[in-house]
Amino acid sequence: MIDQLAYEFPLQSGLAYLNHAAVGVWSRRTAEAVHTFADENMFQGATDYPKWMKVEQALRQQLTELLHAESVDDIALLKNTSEGLSVIAYGMDWQRGDNVVISNQEFPSNRIVWQSLQEHGVEVRTADIACDDPEAALLACCDTHTRLLSISSVQYGTGLRMDLQRLGEACLKHNVFFCVDAIQSLGALSIDVQAIHADAVIADAHKWLLGPEGLAVFYISPAWREKLKLHQFGWHMVENIGDFDATSWQTASSARRFEAGSPNMLGIHALHASLTLLLDIGIDHIERMVLERSSALIDMVLEDKNLQLLSPSQWERCSGIVTFRFKSLNQQQHIELYQRLMKKQVICAYRANGIRFSPHFYTPYACFDLAWSRMMACCND
Ligand SMILES: Cc1ncc(COP(=O)(O)O)c(C=O)c1O
Repeated sequence: MIDQLAYEFPLQSGLAYLNHAAVGVWSRRTAEAVHTFADENMFQGATDYPKWMKVEQALRQQLTELLHAESVDDIALLKNTSEGLSVIAYGMDWQRGDNVVISNQEFPSNRIVWQSLQEHGVEVRTADIACDDPEAALLACCDTHTRLLSISSVQYGTGLRMDLQRLGEACLKHNVFFCVDAIQSLGALSIDVQAIHADAVIADAHKWLLGPEGLAVFYISPAWREKLKLHQFGWHMVENIGDFDATSWQTASSARRFEAGSPNMLGIHALHASLTLLLDIGIDHIERMVLERSSALIDMVLEDKNLQLLSPSQWERCSGIVTFRFKSLNQQQHIELYQRLMKKQVICAYRANGIRFSPHFYTPYACFDLAWSRMMACCND
């Protein structure tokens, strides 16, 4: 396994890549799929387009499996998470006085779109989830006017993992649309969209799925698929997709109804290759490896009395993200530390007023020691 991972992830030596929560790396097979696709385009154009369509279908099957969706018809391929959230926000039939519940730790994509509805009389309620029971804080914001609850499966700053099952059950009981931004967990942590009663789950490919930017999976429950009003139209979203001469048309009954035009075939080839690796290894196995790595990093933080852990430490609350700060450094000094780390090839992020490390399942433990020693050297410079 270690040999296979070293083969699949031949990262430049000396590079401590701890930034999958921003943009993940590609495996060798993903890079090769892109090279092959480029060569094919260069030497023969789209001569084999039917073969490309088979890759597209295979990708939809892989995503159905990854999400434990009921059917491939529940999956659309969109541009990014923000687009998927917008499809939902502008697909629902809002009434003045309705409200949406989100958390105070959401990435802007999962806040701005709901705030944009305020001009239509929709209230946005923001739960403070920096507490012992974040799900209870979210549910306490809900009332009889709550139409939708939208939450990141894992918070981008702290790495807090939400109890999606509990939220989904409560939403189901109270007839609230349950929307999950899964970009910070899909590919690293398991998810079962049916078990958690999700109405929509969206994630772009470029983080934990180890794929390209600009291609996102959009899951929509069968119950909601035909209820969302459409705002994008084109040849690709009709039932009889190849019938270009027809002057009348019907919207596709599958989630393809949300895909207006030509698919991102390059991205599809790349993500398909990434998913062959993730599904071969198995998401449960990957999740264990991710959490073991986070756990090791958390131990390193907790062992140093100069550091404060900003991420949760309980196993069920952990994710691939570990964020921490130096007790003695202010915000500006953390930004400077982050810049020095990047110069020393420790690829990480400045988030939640601290340093965010986000290794993936394949990251060698030696990478942590390397990052740590460079970080301590930065502090002593
Ligand atoms: C939780 C979360 N949602 C959404 C996004 C952005 O997604 P996209 O660029 O696919 O719209 C990010 C990016 O960091 C994120 O962390």
